[in-house]
This record gives sequence, structure tokens and C-alpha cells, in this order.
Amino acid sequence: MEQKRWLPLLAIFASLLFVSRGRVHELKSHDDRLVYNHTLALTLVEYTSAVYMSDLEELFTWTCERCNGLTKGFQVIEIIVDVEHCLQAYVGVAKNLNAIVIAFRGTQGNSIQNWLSDLLWKQLDLNYPDMPDAMVHHGFYSAYHNTTVRPAVLSAVKRAKESYGENINIMVTGHSMGGAMASFCGLDLVVNEGEENVQVMTFGQPRVGNAAFASYYSLLVPNTFRITHDRDVVPHLPPYYYPFPQKTYHHFPTEVWVKKLSYSNIVVGGMEKVCDHTGEDPTCSRSVVATSISDHLRYFGVELKGETWRQCSIVMSHKMESYSRKDSKGNVFLSRPAVPSTEVVDPVATLFRRLKHLDVHADHCQT
Ligand SMILES: *[C@@H]1O[C@H](CO)[C@@H](O)[C@H](O)[C@H]1NC(C)=O
Ligand SMILES: *[C@@H]1O[C@H](CO)[C@@H](O)[C@H](O)[C@H]1NC(C)=O
Repeated sequence: MEQKRWLPLLAIFASLLFVSRGRVHELKSHDDRLVYNHTLALTLVEYTSAVYMSDLEELFTWTCERCNGLTKGFQVIEIIVDVEHCLQAYVGVAKNLNAIVIAFRGTQGNSIQNWLSDLLWKQLDLNYPDMPDAMVHHGFYSAYHNTTVRPAVLSAVKRAKESYGENINIMVTGHSMGGAMASFCGLDLVVNEGEENVQVMTFGQPRVGNAAFASYYSLLVPNTFRITHDRDVVPHLPPYYYPFPQKTYHHFPTEVWVKKLSYSNIVVGGMEKVCDHTGEDPTCSRSVVATSISDHLRYFGVELKGETWRQCSIVMSHKMESYSRKDSKGNVFLSRPAVPSTEVVDPVATLFRRLKHLDVHADHCQT
């Protein structure tokens, strides 16, 4: 199998240069790159996990089983289900992060094995607009740029900024192919929308373009972290061929390699290494033979897949009808206005307000 031929190449750097010094707390930066934030990674992986949920009502109301923990209180303002291409994404506001969060789902329409073997052969077949020599994979590019996803995401971002002000941050996240879409989205927001406070954090993202593209990308969206989990196979695809660094796929920085620490085959913990500015740090995930699918589907202990494969289906009750619309191709959108932060409806607070109101009313009656 073709896969077998290139995988041993990865082992060339297998001398594990990894220094066991626990979590890297500080990234000494010479530029204005922000420092890797572990808590933020834990938070964004939860956002990324939730985008796999197919019950749109639970997702929209942020009551799904994955809509909890560090993401509590999130306000979804747009869900996009591109039924035609089997894509799902949402946009919302996380008040505690002072950020608009945009999350993209990974591939669902196929078995993961088929998707992986496809990835081996993806060509660099599109010139990224207005960036000389920058080439990307047409399929990844189009999933964001040439579907219903982009216009719906951009309009939701506009709505959120109208309500929450220009200074709110934008955090774009996604897993697997959703990570590829997240990086195109982050770049789009900077290049075409003039956004300044854009951060991108992806999980198990495949390569999307060549070295020239990676250079432009890292200049334009410096606050980007690609988290790779131990031996996850996907970040190694499409392959990087050492003899042709310019002609081949090339990751943009900055990788954060999360390595499992095990003792007698029992995982006892993990550590994170913030990798170099090249995007292809040979001492990070490239230092091991990475063929794991299970590492791909779980990051920081959080599951990153749908309840089942081959699931492009969605579940939605009639209650959602007032929020939803369908286009002529059957793609589904759920939207609501972004409510300014001071007016976010908290059901408990509303209940208390009502009770208080009743009390006042009762007092009036007595007097
Ligand atoms: C890291 O991110 C969290 C939010 O997830 C934030 O509360 C915290 O202040 C950040 N830490 C730093 C050092 O920026
Ligand atoms: C966008 O999609 C349409 C139809 O799906 C196709 O005809 C067109 O070539 C695509 N454009 C790009 C730039 O990929």
C-alpha cells in the first residue's frame, strides 16, 4: 500500500528529541505572536466537539450534552448545515472569552478510512487568490469558500459585531477537515474582511497548502495554533515530501504537540510542546510514526466525532421553525439576532425576575 511507503520516512527523525519538561508555559516570542494558552485549548476543543452534534435544537439552545463545562453560557447566533456537501458550522458569542467563536465540523459523509486514503492523493491544485506562488488544495478551499458556509458565517460575524462592538475577538476552531476550513476562514476574515483580532486554533488538521501559502498565512494570522495529538495520522496528510519542500504540502506554524505519557500501557498524563516557527518542526509530531486514528478522534480526552459515521442527517423539532430557513438546495440555517451582552436571557435570572415581579404585585394587593 502506498501509505506504507511514506510512513517510514516519518521515522527518520524518530530519535525522540522530546524533552520531558512538562507543559511548556512560556513561548519566548520575538514577534507579536500570542502565547499558547492551555486553558483556551481545553475550551476550544469543547466548542469543536459540540459542532458534531446533530440535534440542532439542543445545539442552538446550547443544551446538548457536549454544550457544558468550559463553554457554559455560550450564545449561538447561527448554525449552518450545508446538506449538499455535508458540512456543519456554527457562530456564537462566548462572553467569558470576549469572543465570537466560529466552529467547523470535520468530515462526516464517508468512512474515515476512505477519507484518509483520499487525503494521500490530494493535489495542490488551486492558486490562492492574490498570493503569488501560494497553492492550496481546491477541495478544502472550496468547502469554505464555495459553499453556503462562508456567506452565512460572515453575516453572523457582522451581526455579532454590531451588537457586541468592534473590539470583540474572533476565535476560529475546527477539527480534521473542519480545521482546514477554520484556517481558510481565519485567513479570509483577515484578508477580505479586514478583521484584526483573529485567532485560529485547530485540532488534528491536515495540511492545506504549500510552503509559500504557509508563509503568507503565518504573517497574516500569526495567532494560530495547530494542536496535534500524539500519533494522530491526519496532520501528516497530505504528505510532506522532504526532497521537495517548495513543491509539497507544508504546514503553517505553530504546532502544539500533545504527547501521551504512559506507564505500562496505561496513559498517565500528557504534555504539550510548543513547536518551532517553521510549521514542520522535526522534533514534534514528525518525530514519531503517526498512524493512529483513535488519537485523531480524541483531543484532551474530548471526543471529536459524531454519534455515528455517515451522519449528515439532522434532528430538529417544530419549535425551531421560527429560527430556521432552507435554501433551494435544502441547506439549513438557524439564525437569531445577537443579543447585547447585558441583555442575554438567562432562564434562571428571568424566573427570579418574574417571581420578584409577582411578589411586588402581591404586596400591592395587600396594601
Ligand atoms: C487563557 O485563556 C483563558 C480563557 O480560556 C483566560 O481566562 C486566561 O486569562 C488566558 N490566560 C492568559 C495568560 O492569557
Ligand atoms: C464553485 O462551485 C461551482 C459548482 O458547485 C463550480 O462550478 C465552480 O467551479 C466552483 N468554483 C471554484 C472556484 O471552486
